[in-house]
Amino acid sequence: MSDLTNKRIVLGVSGSIAAYKSPEIVRRLQDLGAEVRVIVTNGGREFVSERSLQTISKNKVHDNLWDKEAELAMGHIELAKWADVIIIAPASANTIAKLCHGRADDLLTTVILATEAKIMIAPAMNQQMFAASAMKDNLELLQKRGMDIIKPGFGEQACGDVGEGRLADPLDIAKQAADLFTSSLLSGKNILITLGGTKESIDPVRFISNHSSGKMGMALAHACIQAGAKTTLIVGSISVDIEKRAEIIHVVSAEDMYKAVMKKINSQDLFISCAAVADFKPKKMSKNKIKKNDSPMTIELIENKDILATVSQLEKKPICIGFAAETENHIENARIKLKKKKCDAIILNDVSKSEIGLNSNDNEVHFITKNKSEIIEKNTKQIIAEKIINKLANYFFKSS
Ligand SMILES: Cc1cc2nc3c(=O)[nH]c(=O)nc-3n(C[C@H](O)[C@H](O)[C@H](O)COP(=O)(O)O)c2cc1C
Repeated sequence: MSDLTNKRIVLGVSGSIAAYKSPEIVRRLQDLGAEVRVIVTNGGREFVSERSLQTISKNKVHDNLWDKEAELAMGHIELAKWADVIIIAPASANTIAKLCHGRADDLLTTVILATEAKIMIAPAMNQQMFAASAMKDNLELLQKRGMDIIKPGFGEQACGDVGEGRLADPLDIAKQAADLFTSSLLSGKNILITLGGTKESIDPVRFISNHSSGKMGMALAHACIQAGAKTTLIVGSISVDIEKRAEIIHVVSAEDMYKAVMKKINSQDLFISCAAVADFKPKKMSKNKIKKNDSPMTIELIENKDILATVSQLEKKPICIGFAAETENHIENARIKLKKKKCDAIILNDVSKSEIGLNSNDNEVHFITKNKSEIIEKNTKQIIAEKIINKLANYFFKSS
């Protein structure tokens, strides 16, 4: 199933009559979960209203390289870096020719030169224009440079001609963008992921918990599903949308999570322990709400079962991956955890920095195995998750 959850897409709309279909492209991309920002060329503006695109994309439409406010923060570079994918749809003959020459005389072409994102081009023009040898050469050149060409359709055109050159169907454009993120790297594999925080009850209304949002675990779930794995999630307390394509088991406490994991673990190829499981719980949960009194209160804590260590020591164990959230001596502590818990790899993140880690949208991690330590540099949690899953697939499942 196609999916663009958490993907950031810049849609470039250039001067083809088919630009009137661009709001629908925005909708179809959003339907698959993407966030969309739009750049319109001068030509594009002639065929579609900025208001429609702004309302539908829920973002300001970018149409001017010389926008004073945006360029204070180097708006063209910011957009180029923000995008995971840039789709030009419709792509006019003129914009295609400019891309071939590396021109940068408007916002769209400048962003294209400045980006590392994947670029997709959906040409739309009169059939004779599309058949012109200059157009054929241009598209071939862009393809050679690594851009994807979304083939136009065949049929009756706005000018009355019949032939090839109609803008591809908006849903097909969105699906082809989603296909960029799907693979069969983990097809046939069963993956179990724990995520979110656990809640350890003190009394019927109070509990001990942590700041885990479940964002990293959910991003891993998307990445596993996109890589073709059958994915089961054991979900504690989270503040993100659930990945609907996974099997979901909700739990509250560390004890619930332990039981749910043990019930599912036998059939798994890979276990990713991403949940922030409470190490301790109150020795006793009070049946009634504890009342305030004058004496200071003490809660006696006892240790919870260690889910990852238990799974790593099963006779028939899956590949086991742990997460280490550290605030100091990061690599050293992660290596100690790897050894102590006997797991196959540890993903280390530094939770002392507010811009990465527990509740943020970005992360930077180290992928640590017995013999290796590799950094996966700061990026959105979704991109980090995809890189982790690629590494896991290559490291542990390549030959199977
Ligand atoms: C009514 C009209 C319809 C047009 N339709 C197309 C079209 O479908 N495809 C195309 O490549 N150019 C088309 N053009 C020409 C472009 O709009 C023109 O080349 C323009 O300079 C493109 O600018 P841009 O690439 O910066 O958006 C059309 C022009 C007009 C006046």
